[in-house]
Amino acid sequence: MQYVWTTAVSGVFLSLIVATAYAEPENLMASDDEFAGPSLYENNCAVCHGEQLEGAAQGVPLVGGDLKQGETLEELMHSIAKGMPEKGMVAWEGVLSDLEIKTLALLVKEYRSGLVAIDLTKEVELPPGEILSTHHNFKVDRITDQLDPFPYSISVLPDNSLLVTEKMFGIRTVSAEGQVSALIDGAPKTHNDVYVLAEQGIEFGAGWILDIQVHPLFQENGWVYLHYTERCRDCGDVMDDDNPPTSRNVVVRGRIDDGHWRDHEVIWSAPDFEANYYLDVVAGGRLAFDPEGYLFMTVGMRDMDGIQDLSSPYGKTHRVHDDGRVPSDNPFVEVDGAYPTIWTVGHRSPQGLAFDASSRQVWGTEHGPRGGDEINLLTPGGNFGWPLFSGGQNYDGTEVAHGRASSELEFADTVQPTVEFTPSIAISNLVVYQGAMFAQWHGDFLVGSLKATDLFRIRLDDGQIVEQEILLKDVGRIRDIDVSASGAVYLLLEHRSGGQIVRMASP
Ligand code: HEC
Repeated sequence: MQYVWTTAVSGVFLSLIVATAYAEPENLMASDDEFAGPSLYENNCAVCHGEQLEGAAQGVPLVGGDLKQGETLEELMHSIAKGMPEKGMVAWEGVLSDLEIKTLALLVKEYRSGLVAIDLTKEVELPPGEILSTHHNFKVDRITDQLDPFPYSISVLPDNSLLVTEKMFGIRTVSAEGQVSALIDGAPKTHNDVYVLAEQGIEFGAGWILDIQVHPLFQENGWVYLHYTERCRDCGDVMDDDNPPTSRNVVVRGRIDDGHWRDHEVIWSAPDFEANYYLDVVAGGRLAFDPEGYLFMTVGMRDMDGIQDLSSPYGKTHRVHDDGRVPSDNPFVEVDGAYPTIWTVGHRSPQGLAFDASSRQVWGTEHGPRGGDEINLLTPGGNFGWPLFSGGQNYDGTEVAHGRASSELEFADTVQPTVEFTPSIAISNLVVYQGAMFAQWHGDFLVGSLKATDLFRIRLDDGQIVEQEILLKDVGRIRDIDVSASGAVYLLLEHRSGGQIVRMASP
């Protein structure tokens, strides 16, 4: 597939899905209609369009390329309702209700955005031998394939052993040779059930262990930082429609000693448990340190109204000192009622976070737009616009502008993404490479993708893309990236038969 990588110049290309689905968040949470999408699709559409919308003999793919009849919600509803009977696409009007047609249009949009489509069946294929790329040749080795299918984060330690999180299980260590430990005992509790869509492989859960990072002075102080979502204490242990769970983001630190989590301290916590249609899929939960010991974190959206609200921690990035104190130069510390740790505002599903030690800039990735993912420069106090400004405006004039009428935020006040990917690759985490092993990549972004299963290298100069290449193609769903002290690049891959860690090093 051809990707178009653009440096954004205008327009916030944000998706319609969430804005629409969020009209009444409480209802959606427990509503059968919303979750009827997959079985509706399975029963009526999969035979021609494939189980994962990838296409089948009698129909066309609905993901992975442009749609002839358009991909706004309205256009999709029109395609489904009217069909193209002469080409073999049934008109579903009269057969399905308007609500069912809308549900299916939303489902198609969700799959296209990469937010929910999880095809873990795709084999992880590591190219053998020496791999050529523009500046450096490298080889790829597998460290382990013995992890849970849904790992979330890796952190390479100074001795080349690794900490890894499996979001529904907890923390493990992996030796430099690939020996996987038992779960670290005493770490925050996780929940390994998923909501309703489990049989589809769709990971709607609550109560997950997310990012793991070590302190910049880890060798001296041993601190390990963990971002997780704590499931509401009263919500019971089983997820069902009568008892939908809620959760909240929490960041803690502790030390790992002989298989145990010790010296536990809460560094940051969202004050309230909040309901969330997507549960923890959009929780963000990434962490990044700068060399001075400031800790940045991404906290995804929960409630559409809270994203632009400075008194809510959701849909923001945050910055604290390594012990959780609020830095006195944070952008909103002087604003009455503002959550003082907020660094940037207006995010939807911030999947990646990295600090560039040379430029001293913080970068984030985000699943935002229809047909496009973003890399954002997280300037202090920046407002990235979600959910007030949306890409709907580009097609048919239909604007989705949740809360815009009652807000003073102007489009011109929002920060535009630096890089956009079209179509969506389902961007994951990124690093700004600083290692010695691949000196010519110094300062470049290495960016992972879930849907495209490719590893991208991007070089920016003054906000413009000046170099771009795919370093690894079709390796598997890349969930996280980290770089060792010597500069080897480690990738964390999801796969149905076992999550994997692979290492790129000089040949
Ligand atoms: C009998 C096979 C068949 C079934 C069942 C079917 N489709 Fe289609 N569908 C097609 C074909 C063939 C096309 C492509 C028509 C063309 O060539 O433009 C299509 C086109 C589409 C398009 C427009 C694609 C574009 O490029 O714009 C959408 C959206 C779509 N189908 C959704 C659905 C949904 C949702 C269902 C289930 C309710 C469904 N289809 C059921 C055969 C089918």
